[in-house]
Amino acid sequence: MNITSEVGVAAEINMILGKYPREQRFALAVLQDIQNKYNYLPKESLYEAAAYLSMPLSKLYGMATFYKALSLEKKGEYIIKVCDGTACHIRSSAFLISEIEKALGIKAGYTTADGRFSLETVSCLGSCALAPVMVINDKTHGSVTAGKLREILKLYGGHAHGE
Ligand code: FES
Repeated sequence: MNITSEVGVAAEINMILGKYPREQRFALAVLQDIQNKYNYLPKESLYEAAAYLSMPLSKLYGMATFYKALSLEKKGEYIIKVCDGTACHIRSSAFLISEIEKALGIKAGYTTADGRFSLETVSCLGSCALAPVMVINDKTHGSVTAGKLREILKLYGGHAHGE
């Protein structure tokens, strides 16, 4: 990260913090706002938030690791969530996950080196009737077959195995 972008990030974080009173009860809302902005919680944002809210850094780290919607790791531009719940599992979600891993060259739980894709598995996306299901950012893709998966990945600029 260069100096200009560091200054930019600090200013952006200060803008987010400035929307909230300096009270600990706003900590979760602050973290969610930062998460929405960057798709993760940059380390410096936690230092800034701790100072602003006068609360221990360890408490903010605790919240960041406790809530699934928060992440301390930088995520990709596209976050692929593949359901591996029961309904999806019996309809071959494991196969889909391994196909995506091959296509992107990463294991589930990781982000591609170019920062484009993160791959995650989840236990239910609430669309069991459409199993197997995957979500890319906010878009749900249901009844995903191997062929459909290739088309979906192409849409996002990912390449299916063998292409
Ligand atoms: S088990 Fe996959 S959406 Fe419910």
